Amino acid sequence: MPISVVILAAGHGKRMNSQFPKVLHRLAGKPLLEHIVNTAQQLDCKDIFVVVGHESRRIQQELAHLPVQWVEQQKRLGTGHAVLQVLPQIDPSDQVLTLVGDIPLVTLATLQRLVAKTNHGGVGLVTAKLADPSGLGRIIRDDDNDIIAIVEDRDTSVEQRQIKEINTGIITAPAKLLNQWLPAISNHNSQGEYYLTDIISAAVTQNEPIHGVIADHQYEAMGVNDRCQLAKLERIYQYHLAQEWMRRGVTIIDPSRLDIRGEVEIGIDTIIDINVVLEGNVKIGKNCQIGPNCLLRNVTLADDVTVNANSVLEASTVANNCIVGPFARLRPGTELANDVHIGNFVEVKKSIVAEHSKINHLSYVGDTDVGKSVNIGAGTITCNYDGFNKYRTQVGDHAFIGSGAQLVAPVNIGAWATIGAGSTITENAPENTLTLGRARQCSITDWKRPDQRDSNKE
Ligand code: UD1
Ligand code: CA
Repeated sequence: MPISVVILAAGHGKRMNSQFPKVLHRLAGKPLLEHIVNTAQQLDCKDIFVVVGHESRRIQQELAHLPVQWVEQQKRLGTGHAVLQVLPQIDPSDQVLTLVGDIPLVTLATLQRLVAKTNHGGVGLVTAKLADPSGLGRIIRDDDNDIIAIVEDRDTSVEQRQIKEINTGIITAPAKLLNQWLPAISNHNSQGEYYLTDIISAAVTQNEPIHGVIADHQYEAMGVNDRCQLAKLERIYQYHLAQEWMRRGVTIIDPSRLDIRGEVEIGIDTIIDINVVLEGNVKIGKNCQIGPNCLLRNVTLADDVTVNANSVLEASTVANNCIVGPFARLRPGTELANDVHIGNFVEVKKSIVAEHSKINHLSYVGDTDVGKSVNIGAGTITCNYDGFNKYRTQVGDHAFIGSGAQLVAPVNIGAWATIGAGSTITENAPENTLTLGRARQCSITDWKRPDQRDSNKE
């Protein structure tokens, strides 16, 4: 049967105490709702509908890139009522898979198992056995171990409350049967809501088979209701990501102190020290070393690259054998060729640095093309901005820029040129030549140092 997915996300999420809707809060840098949509996308499904209500406009704007159809639930009258809002848009011959927007870590494997069991119809649900099932709907089974009902936490008897097996909220049923059952369920329960979970009893009454699938991991059933639970899930998620990379040959000094927020690729024998954050699209080659406290956002590192402690790299590419940092900052548009060294307190922006060049200490290099084997001395600044426009600086191969130079762009430093320390270079410097742009040193022989005794006399 073709599958239509319905994701419930109309609730408020009061316990988040937030001005933003709950499903927009991020886990591993990605909104909760996007996690579940991405997992659903990997199923072979026809359509994905998302039921929104509270702050629906904001959710639709922020997640406009998702391939889903938004369905508005005007009044939040319960999960059964929410699914009912979508049913008119679903082909009666489809199987409807309902997911919950605030349970982000359900795995594709679990969903596939559920789908496989119910692809010829029938009702299915994902359950989990939790040490602490409080707050969740309990699974009631008969003597044959068949599921016969779900009882919501607030509606349980004292006995039922002891049951550890819970409803994850992931339920599948044929659209045809939902069309029949959902309009008939009542809201005579402690919350006065129309519960989707009441379809289980309806199925039992009609002798429809109910297939339970127990989730492999407890975290698949863990929801985000407040920020404490969000933080807990974040650590679980990060831990599993780190495990995955360690199995693939990456050394992670402390898996509890690495955060991956995006799509990463990491080569074998790379070593990642503590408190590293990888954001966006990050590619790290083989045998690299990432020092402690580094942020890498949308960067590509080739092989054998060393990024020393406390460096921040953004939208840059770094070729083989480069050394960056400690305390370096690569801003967007930086391209370092093989064997380039960028040292401490150096900021590089929108610049291309050719192989074997070194910018080792306290410099700003912006909008610059640096040739190969160039040495840029300590404290060099490219003055690329006149307050209105930005200009480029060109530095030829093998040039040597003395310490404390200012290169006022647009300006061109020739190949093999030497710039004397402390120069302010406002015009092109020819190749193979020493260029100085600083006041000549002089010594004043008849100068007398003010005498302290003289001033005391007055
Ligand atoms: C629900 C299940 C419970 C299960 C738990 C798992 C029901 C009745 N109960 O309980 O068995 O153990 O999830 O976390 O289904 N929503 C709407 N519209 C509504 C009401 C809810 O879209 O009118 C959405 C919420 O935004 C949320 C989801 O449905 O994403 C679940 O609703 P919630 O009220 O949180 O149900 P629970 O009490 O957690
Ligand atoms: Ca919930």
